[in-house]
Amino acid sequence: MKPRRLPSIDRPWLVATLAAAVMIAVLMLIGSFNATSNSAFFCRSKVVDRGIMPVQLHSILHYATTRAVPQQSAREVHVTFDVLFSIYPCNFLVFGLGHDSLMWASLNPNGFTMFLEEDPNWVRTILTKAPNIRVHSVEYKTHVYDAKNLLAHYKTEPTCLPPKLFLNGNTKCRLVLSDLPNEIYSKEWDVIMIDGPRGYQPELPGRMAAIYTAAVMARLRTRPGVTHVILHDVNRRVERVYAEKFLCKKHLVKGVERLWHFAIPSATKEDTKKVNTFFC
Ligand SMILES: C[S@@+](CC[C@H](N)C(=O)[O-])C[C@H]1O[C@@H](n2cnc3c(N)ncnc32)[C@H](O)[C@@H]1O
Repeated sequence: MKPRRLPSIDRPWLVATLAAAVMIAVLMLIGSFNATSNSAFFCRSKVVDRGIMPVQLHSILHYATTRAVPQQSAREVHVTFDVLFSIYPCNFLVFGLGHDSLMWASLNPNGFTMFLEEDPNWVRTILTKAPNIRVHSVEYKTHVYDAKNLLAHYKTEPTCLPPKLFLNGNTKCRLVLSDLPNEIYSKEWDVIMIDGPRGYQPELPGRMAAIYTAAVMARLRTRPGVTHVILHDVNRRVERVYAEKFLCKKHLVKGVERLWHFAIPSATKEDTKKVNTFFC
């Protein structure tokens, strides 16, 4: 008997369509395996450390069961949310602990989020609610009543400006936070939020040193990309004046209610040589 000939495929588009359909089916099959990886069939193959609760789960539980809400408005929170959403996982440094801390840590999945707080009692209070966030205590040596003098000081103290400017251990420049843990100086921060320390009365520390230190970190960044600096409470004069001086109006991306968002590029070699224009 004469063998039957297979019909010849004379339409290449049909072959291409069939191949694509098979590929999609395989991909969907793989996807469905992943989607069901928590099902009874697959769950035993995954090792989950139940001693460590992901910060996002902790956050949902916390915010669903508390009446204490962040002080920033929803529109202000959205500014930082948008920045984090566009670059996470990232290095995120936050000045000031609050009812928002667990939210910020959760909005940087797989990133590194660190909080700096002046008040040890407030650290303890927040850590009882959010035990898995990273916090360091900071001692500020400034006072709001000194804000004007400090603006004169940084111009005359050589270690406040290049080429002698440095952060870690710089006790001469009063605007530098000089005794933070080493990991704060060794990391390059992608996002820095300044919502602390307190600065609503003359004898409180004020945000001068936080703003200055954040500006130096941003300008000395060696990694590609900008440093996003987000400053709250710009309705206050000190915050506004220091922001304009060190974070610079030309780097201001957005202002929403009492919040300013800056995207600060690293200083060029030329910027570093021109002391007067190092920041702006
Ligand atoms: C303006 S608050 C930051 C608040 C935070 N953004 C929030 O939404 O909760 C800045 C500083 O105020 C202090 N602080 C804020 N709330 C406090 C409270 N309920 N009790 C004691 N200190 C507080 C902390 O020292 C904190 O670093």
